[in-house]
Amino acid sequence: MITETVDLGSVPKGWTRRHLLGLEELSAEEITIILEVAQRFHDAWAAGQKKIPLLTGKTCVNLFFEDSTRTRISFSLAIRRLGADAVDFSAATSSLSKGETVIDTAKNIEAMGVDAVIVRHRTPGTPHLLSQNLGCSVVNAGDGPHEHPTQGLLDILTMRQRRGSLEGLTVALIGDIAHSRTARSNIWGLKKLGAHVIVCGPSTLVSPRWAEIGIEYSYSLDDILPRVDVLNLLRIQFERQYIRPFPSVREYAHLYAMNRERMARAKKDLLVLAPGPINRGVEVTPDVADGPHSAILEQVTNGLAVRMAVLWLLVGSKK
Ligand code: CP
Repeated sequence: MITETVDLGSVPKGWTRRHLLGLEELSAEEITIILEVAQRFHDAWAAGQKKIPLLTGKTCVNLFFEDSTRTRISFSLAIRRLGADAVDFSAATSSLSKGETVIDTAKNIEAMGVDAVIVRHRTPGTPHLLSQNLGCSVVNAGDGPHEHPTQGLLDILTMRQRRGSLEGLTVALIGDIAHSRTARSNIWGLKKLGAHVIVCGPSTLVSPRWAEIGIEYSYSLDDILPRVDVLNLLRIQFERQYIRPFPSVREYAHLYAMNRERMARAKKDLLVLAPGPINRGVEVTPDVADGPHSAILEQVTNGLAVRMAVLWLLVGSKK
């Protein structure tokens, strides 16, 4: 068994933040620091180092007010692999039902001696609000349709591993751009690292105003497909929509699902990503989701490395 701890040295000088709230406010240098640290955790894991106890004695709490499979489990594992104590808060069985506010709930949890809270909430800005009211670090694990920074980072880490530099890469985000926090975090991160970003989907879900910040927009996957290097297939966020933005799921799949026929018209080395959960047959057909171009499960593996990096940078840098 390998017991030696990976030597990450001290937290890089370019890293001064206590919270990770979004990729919009990070510089290209800060994003690169997280990606490089994440790559080191990834490589250590691949070399057989299962535990890297850099946060022994620290406590991190998963404060999830919305459902999650990947993000919650990945943060729990990241905390444990770093040697810290992990606590999972369940909104359904908490005292929120007795009228306690989110801020009071978080302050009470912090009073038990917590170093970081990882928060997911349907209301945009909840992690920002908590960061103003708590002394510990706050990590945004998804705030409504606003941002999901660790998802954006793990998507970008996967692209970097497969393609090297992001500079000049054409990345298309397909589907429900209007309601997708993954889309926003990808847009900010990719743009800062020099990728060309296209947002593509039904006109009811893709605003032409993205062009104002240099993002290309399109309503036709078939038009853009031949020049795309990476496709990130977003789930239709029915739970955030008040009215259905297209006539039927069948029509959506006809126009936007990545399938065998479209693969034949794409670049030979097209990389297919999806943040998950995927709806097979809606945004992607099973043969593509499970096929050789797909890195969907690699993204999940990379999520663990990214979350270890984020926690180490935020909590490990504290005196
Ligand atoms: N991608 C993602 O955030 O998945 P979960 O909702 O399962 O965490």
